[in-house]
Amino acid sequence: MVSGKYLSVFSPATAQQRQQNFENYWVFTQQHGGELFEADKDLAKKRAKLQYFKDSPVSLRKPLADTDAFYRNYIKMQDDPGKLERLTLMLTAIYKFARHEWVGIKGAWDAVPDMANSHSVEDKISRVHLAEEFCHVRLFDEMLRTCGLDNVEWVPLGPIKEKIYQQFPKFPGFLMDTPAFVTELMGVTFYRHLDRLFDDILADEPEVKERLKALLDEITIDEVAHVGQRRNFIGPVGTKVSYWLVKPFYTLFFNDIPEIKHLFDLQQMIKDGQAFDFNELPESMIERSWIPSYCKA
Ligand SMILES: [Fe+2]
Ligand SMILES: [Fe+2]
Repeated sequence: MVSGKYLSVFSPATAQQRQQNFENYWVFTQQHGGELFEADKDLAKKRAKLQYFKDSPVSLRKPLADTDAFYRNYIKMQDDPGKLERLTLMLTAIYKFARHEWVGIKGAWDAVPDMANSHSVEDKISRVHLAEEFCHVRLFDEMLRTCGLDNVEWVPLGPIKEKIYQQFPKFPGFLMDTPAFVTELMGVTFYRHLDRLFDDILADEPEVKERLKALLDEITIDEVAHVGQRRNFIGPVGTKVSYWLVKPFYTLFFNDIPEIKHLFDLQQMIKDGQAFDFNELPESMIERSWIPSYCKA
């Protein structure tokens, strides 16, 4: 094993360490996102960053030949995914992943206390966390626009799935905290694999490749911090359960997205999730993110 600066995200932590880390994360997250605009589910610094991208748009050198293929398959796959052009397939996969995120946070936003009614540091953290997730959906939307897709609609899931997502945040912590942590970990794993997929699929599109990577970095930096923060909610038993949940969770989730097996190595994603220790992340990303003290060597 290569020894690094950081330890496994499944490393043990005492209750006292976790309490200190909540305080520390709260300081981090306020300066990271800037002012919370609660009515808009937005944050000042994130909003400015998105505007910066919108003010200097880039576009594909060779536009998508068949945008109908995207619009026909992005909500539900209709065609044979093996026959779709790879860029289109990657974009429908991005939408489907982001859509799940959007549905989950939409349900949670109404279920958790707003900032005025958040009294504990954990509640305040959770409110800002959700606002960041809404910013991610806007950044994903911008990725699709960059590829010439400006008629994307964010469509709710069916009523039953919507209901499940709405109930989830109301579950007691001992039930909710482990899947919430594994979901964040799954996000980071997916985004790191997606970053490498950009190199492959957008090799002939340097401007768009760099832009999509920059948009994705904005998301991943937050998501890495979320991994540590959600880890911090979990005690020793939950930490073991979370490790055990990685494989079934990733498998269930990704098998539901038909594009995944054509673009990604699911088994490698599972291994990367189980082995996650922050060491593979670029320094530029770590500098802007947050890692729990007990994951530092
Ligand atoms: Fe996110
Ligand atoms: Fe997140």
